[in-house]
This record gives sequence, C-alpha cells and structure tokens, in this order.
Amino acid sequence: MQRRTFLSVALASVVGVPLSACGNSSPPQAGGGRILLAYFSRPGENYWNGGRRDLEVGNTEVLARTIGARLDCDVHRIEAADPYSADYDETVERNVREQEADARPAIANPLASIDGYDTILLASPIWNVRAPMIMTTFTENYDFSGKTVHPVTTHAMSGLGTTPDDYAESCRGARIATGLAVRGEEARSARADVDSWLRRTGLT
Ligand SMILES: Cc1cc2nc3c(=O)[nH]c(=O)nc-3n(C[C@H](O)[C@H](O)[C@H](O)COP(=O)(O)O)c2cc1C
Repeated sequence: MQRRTFLSVALASVVGVPLSACGNSSPPQAGGGRILLAYFSRPGENYWNGGRRDLEVGNTEVLARTIGARLDCDVHRIEAADPYSADYDETVERNVREQEADARPAIANPLASIDGYDTILLASPIWNVRAPMIMTTFTENYDFSGKTVHPVTTHAMSGLGTTPDDYAESCRGARIATGLAVRGEEARSARADVDSWLRRTGLT
C-alpha cells in the first residue's frame, strides 16, 4: 500500500468509513555477542481496528516489553526531544511534514555508542509505510559495521513497510536480517509470535 493511500484510508476510517483490511541487562547471547533493543513508541490516541483507541502504553512498547522479557538484551526507549502529540490527527500531520522534509527529529536521550552490541533490534510503529523519521535520526548516528539489524514493527496493515530497505540505507555497514511485524491490535497477545521469531532467527 502506498503511503498516501494508507493516510487516506486511515483518515477515512476515523471519520466513520469502515476499513476492510485491514530486562535490561547485558550478558552474552545464544548466538554470541550482546543485543540492543532500541525502540520508539507513542502512547495516546491511535488507530484501532478501523477506529481509534486511547493507549496508555503504545503498541510497540508493549511488544518491546514482551521481547525484552524473553531475551537477554539492553533495552533503550528512544524519546523525542519534542514529544509527539497524543492526538492522532496532529501526529499524522506532523509525520507527513517530517517525511516530506526528510527531517531528523531530535532525540532527547541519545545513546553515546552502540559499539558494545553485535545485534540490534530496531522497533517502531509504521508511520505512513515506513518507520517514524526519528528512527533515521537514531540509525544515522552510528556505525553499524559488522552488526546485524532486525527490523521490528507494529502496524495496522503495512507489515514491515519499507523498514528493511530504509535500515539497509541508514544503518551504515549493517546486515539486515529477518524482521518481525505485529499488528498493533495484537501486540498484547504476541508472545507466541515473538517466541517463534526469536527461535527462527537464532536469537534464543
Ligand atoms: C502518524 C501515524 C501513521 C500511521 N501510518 C500507518 C501506516 O502507514 N501503515 C500501517 O499499517 N499503520 C500505520 N499507523 C498505525 C500504527 O503503525 C500502529 O497503530 C502502531 O501499532 C502504533 O504503535 P505505537 O502505539 O507504538 O506508536 C499509523 C499511525 C500513526 C499515528
């Protein structure tokens, strides 16, 4: 689905048109090397089965907690210096502006380095068929040479969107490995999917 298309469908759905498709430690890992789970998530009003729901904890944060509970990894929540609104429409509009401007929204809590990690899980919602631009702010800041990156998303219908290609471009030197995409509405019941993905990828 094209970015513009999703936007119209999502906006249509919220004005009443039904939508049809739609641990924080760091010991060595099974596959060798340390793992970082870096994620961005926005609580507040969001898309939910064709309507909207107010989420106290964002879907990606829920998924990140599930992954973090099953994997020995360091967990880093990426915070925007200028926090995103809890209002859905405002966030859609801000994101369109940021995508059109190829913006790099500032991060309030940047990690000094990712040098100690061999594997990095990059988790985010899908916004307009890609990761929010703040994920590119994060990825462009580091040298990923020799590191393996797994894209992880929560979404309404776009799956991983363009994240594998986007991370291939912005994570200098990284090998992009198998990702995990979970519908936002299913993030709270994704344990089996997470376990299966962790096994398939050799992360556990
Ligand atoms: C600004 C914005 C744009 C979105 N664009 C898409 C999209 O293009 N495709 C899609 O499947 N879901 C899209 N969604 C839905 C979110 O990806 C989904 O609700 C996700 O689980 C939200 O995660 P979070 O609660 O961690 O922010 C969008 C949501 C927002 C707020």
